[in-house]
This record gives sequence, C-alpha cells and structure tokens, in this order.
Amino acid sequence: MDFPDQPVPLYLQLAERLLDAIDQAAMEEGTRLPSVRTLAAQHAMSVSTALQALRWLETRGHIEARPRSGYFVAKRSKRGKRANGAAGTAGARGAGASRWARPMPELDAQARDHLAIAGAPAAVRLDLASAETALYPVDRFSVLLRRLAYQHRDLVGSHVRGTGYPALRAQIARQAMQYACELDPDELVVTNGCVEALNLALRAVARPGDLIAVESPTYFVLLQMLRALEMPIHPVPATADHGIDVDALKADLDRGVPIKAVVTVANCNNPLGSVPSDARKRALVALLREHDIPLIEDDIFGDLCFGQTRPRPVRAFDEAHGNVLLCGGFSKSLCPGLRLGWIAGGRYTERVKALKYTTSMATAELQQAAVAELLATGGYALHLRRLKAALRNQHKALREAVLRHFPAGTEVTEPAGGLVLWAKLPAFDGQPRSTRTLFERARAEGISFAPGHLFGEGAAFDDCLRLNAGNRWTSELDAAVRRLGELAMRAERSAH
Ligand SMILES: Cc1ncc(COP(=O)(O)O)c(C=O)c1O
Repeated sequence: MDFPDQPVPLYLQLAERLLDAIDQAAMEEGTRLPSVRTLAAQHAMSVSTALQALRWLETRGHIEARPRSGYFVAKRSKRGKRANGAAGTAGARGAGASRWARPMPELDAQARDHLAIAGAPAAVRLDLASAETALYPVDRFSVLLRRLAYQHRDLVGSHVRGTGYPALRAQIARQAMQYACELDPDELVVTNGCVEALNLALRAVARPGDLIAVESPTYFVLLQMLRALEMPIHPVPATADHGIDVDALKADLDRGVPIKAVVTVANCNNPLGSVPSDARKRALVALLREHDIPLIEDDIFGDLCFGQTRPRPVRAFDEAHGNVLLCGGFSKSLCPGLRLGWIAGGRYTERVKALKYTTSMATAELQQAAVAELLATGGYALHLRRLKAALRNQHKALREAVLRHFPAGTEVTEPAGGLVLWAKLPAFDGQPRSTRTLFERARAEGISFAPGHLFGEGAAFDDCLRLNAGNRWTSELDAAVRRLGELAMRAERSAH
C-alpha cells in the first residue's frame, strides 16, 4: 500500500544550497550571486531550472534581481527567516514555509473562532453552510437504513474492505455522466465527508512546505487544514462573477512562484457563490497542464446550482489527463449527518487509495448502501429538485432582508446556487468596518454568522460576513437579520 517518496525538485535543491551558501558565508546585503548560466553549469542543470531556483528565492525575499546586473543578496530585514535551518530536503521545504510563517498564527485564532461557531448553541443559525434538517429526506433514510441493516447483515457485521461500496461508486460515476463528466468507478474512493477527500488529495500531491494556491476568499476549514498539514498558502484573488482569477494565477506562475497544487471550489463557490464559465474552466485546466500542476477541485456544491443544467466540474475538461482530483460528497445536498464524501483521484488514484487506507482504512458501508439506493431509484433527483426550489426562495428572501436592514451600501452576492450569501459592509468615515466585534455582539444575542476574516489571511475580509441561506424563511429570521443590521450600523472600524 506504500508509494514511492516524491523526489525534491531540482530547483528546490539548488535554492536550498544557495541559501546555505548565503547563510554560511554570512554574505552581506548586495553580494552578487553567480549568473544563471554559471549556476546551471556548476550544478549540471538547465538554465531554466537554475532560473526557477533564483526566482523562488526572490519571491521569498532572500535575493533581489537588478535589471541587467543579475541577482544579489537582499537586505536582512527583507529576507524571510528560514524554518529551523534544517539541511537538505526538509530545509528546502522549510524555507518554502518560512515566507508564510507570519499569517499562520492568524489561523490559530481562526480555528478557535470556528470551533466557537460550530460548538456554540445559537438561537438563529446563520453561520453554517447547511440546510435545516427538515429539508433533508431524514424519514426516508431512517426507513432505508433499518431495512438495509436487516436485509444485509454483513453491512454492519463484517469488516469493511475496499475503497467504497461498489454500488455507490457506480452510482456516483453514473450521476457524473449526466453532466458529461467521465469518472471511472475504480478511481473513486469513498471518504468520511468531503473534508477527508480534500485532505487525501492534498497529501497525495504535496508535502509539508509545499506552496498551495487557494482562492481568496476560501472555505475556512481548507485554510486550517493546510495549516495543520504545514503547507503554506498562496492566495489567488477570486470574484463572485468569475471565481478564481486565472490571469492572476498565470502571472504568478510566469514569475516563477513555485506553486505545487491549486485548490478550487469552482461550482457555487463557498463563500462567493460563483460558477466560472466553461471557457474559464478550460483555461484553468490548460494553464495547469502546461505547468504540470495538479488541481484539486471541491465540487460539493455542484448539485445545488440553480440553473437549468448542472454546471460541469473543471475536471470534465481534463478527462484524458487525470490532472484534476475531484472531491465531492453528500453533506450539503442529501444528508449532513451521514458524513459521506468521495474523491476521483485521476492519475493520483493509487496514492489516494494508499492514504485512505492508512488514514481511516474505510468508510462505513451501511449509509453508502442507503445513498446508492436513493441515487439508483431516482429519489435523489426528486429530493434535489425540491431542495433547490426551497433554497432559491430562501436565498432571495435573505438577500432582500440584508439589503433592507443592513447599512446602506452593503454589497451582497447573488449566488448561482449553494447555501451561502457573502456580504460586504460599507466603510464608515472612510474606514472599513469590522465584522469581528459584530460577531461577538450578535452571538451574545443568540445570532450566529461566519465572520469574514475566517476566509482569508489577516484582515483581508474583516468587513465581510457569510450568511447561511439554508433556513426556511420565517418572521423570526427576518427579525434576526434586522437586529444584525442594527448591530452592523454600529460595527466598529477594523482594528487591523
Ligand atoms: C467547500 C466545502 N467543502 C467541503 C465541506 C465539508 O464537507 P463535508 O461535511 O462533507 O466534510 C464544506 C462544508 O461547508 C464546504 O463548504
């Protein structure tokens, strides 16, 4: 079940050696480094690899380029600290992390905030990204689970082997065919929620110290996961209209930012609600293929898009190459409590399978059998139609309430589907308002929402908040949004 260690890229090995040389010789600021060609010849590598190493050091502030003169040791104050100075492979990766060390403590605070949100009771839950229980087919499931456990005793009484219940894997592949995305049941691994799928995907393509590009803003558990995996992040701007900015990503890659993998929540993005056009999805695939960088796609909201046709995942545009690891699941669309997710690993499938085995061995099969049956009998399609109709109305009601009750100038997304709205408070006296204190005050009154800073680094989204549209619209909910709006009028300026 093991897989070979990933080799350290040549450019990182050279970058590490150069860093050692700079440190050991205590090179002064302004000391000129050997030319690219000299380095390439000295280290028996191509000029482009040597250049990649220099650019990697440059983006981390260790050296600087001077036009037509070459590369020079940067000012000490500009140079990122090296992580624990380890030599060799680990050192090169540690140096990768060091530039990003500053934002990391922020994620600790975010993790605490997140636990506070998820763990705290709240009268009005605008914080999660989940529909309320009554909108899920819970009764149907309880009957199905009881029947299946009775008829198929082995589903409970036998040891679980393999990478997922075969009937469920077949059904997932069949569903994907409906939106022209070809998945091989044999590449599918069923996971404990989509979160486990993301975790396996990241570990299959990257190691601690590797730089991972993420949308900004992005799903906060992903940020915390990357922190736990010691994979520094590289934020790429994303907009509610188009999702991830492919041009910005291209510019980063062109200037040699050593991105190891990209993660996108393309369809009905959390928190922006965006769905990029097929052309943009194609462009993303082409760009990453050109640079041989894997894409991890989280499509958990794909089935909840409101349009006539379900948008295709980015993965559908890369079928022949296996460069996209597609993660999905049923926590949002069918049954949050069953914790069922899946991953189609593409060319990383064997690694994903090995990692799954040593992470959680397998996923309980009883609920997989129940979901497989619901998919096969058309029960899922019927439920989805009802759920999406309810969500569309709830989105509309919530959006209108925010525009009515929040300070004039508040911007609210009009998502293409999914479960959440993203709002941006207007500045007050020319200063951005902060939703951090608003979060505390609202929580004291039993109203929960997800504060914007959770979704990015530092204070990037301090003036934003994410609201759950999964609750059925009631006068109590309207009153809660009105109260939130009143508190937002008094929201203090960002302290950051
Ligand atoms: C983008 C995204 N991916 C994954 C998840 C979690 O999926 P699961 O509950 O299946 O682990 C969420 C939950 O909010 C999410 O927003």
